[in-house]
Amino acid sequence: MTEPLDLFGDTADTATELPHDLDALRAQAAGCTRCELYQDTTQTVFGTGPATARLVMVGEQPGDQEDREGAPFVGPAGRLLDEALDEAGVARDDAYVTNAVKHFNFRYQGKRRIHETPKAGHIRACRPWLDAELALVKPQVLLTLGATAGKALLGPKFRITAERGEPRPWNDLTLVPTIHPSAILRADPARGQDRDEMFAGFVADLRTAGELLR
Ligand code: URA
Repeated sequence: MTEPLDLFGDTADTATELPHDLDALRAQAAGCTRCELYQDTTQTVFGTGPATARLVMVGEQPGDQEDREGAPFVGPAGRLLDEALDEAGVARDDAYVTNAVKHFNFRYQGKRRIHETPKAGHIRACRPWLDAELALVKPQVLLTLGATAGKALLGPKFRITAERGEPRPWNDLTLVPTIHPSAILRADPARGQDRDEMFAGFVADLRTAGELLR
């Protein structure tokens, strides 16, 4: 069953209907050509998790492994996220996990596909899918992972270092911004980054989000 509009805020003649359930939305997103990223990728990587989730986690974009498998956070960053969620006592299976951009943006280095930060246009083009996911899941708490997801939802002035871990009201839910697990994987002691400290801070932010659900 569908209701008229307003998935893309388009004019009446091009309006796309907002499906009533995530499966229908996922099927619709599978054919997305709203930006050029679909051309060189394997598939749209849509969110996964229960439609009744009280917690939604939003990352940046799928990586190489996610692109191949068609699910978010199943690669190295996902494994670190799982480890941190475990330590924070937050069940991933109860959460809905998605990304601000649903196609992998990369460049080739030889045969390797190297992650490229998505551009503002990619985030804008993909936003209706995220809005629709949030409209259907109706979470209580939204956790943004990294600067891209934070900026996508809070605007360009969002500063991850100053604002991470601080819950704030956002629309009719509570948003908790935190760092991206990839930042921990890339921790560089030469730049004063301590992996264990970063991991502990990440776990503390996840715990903050988890406590808001209790
Ligand atoms: N990084 C993200 O932001 N999302 C994924 O799904 C995987 C890696």
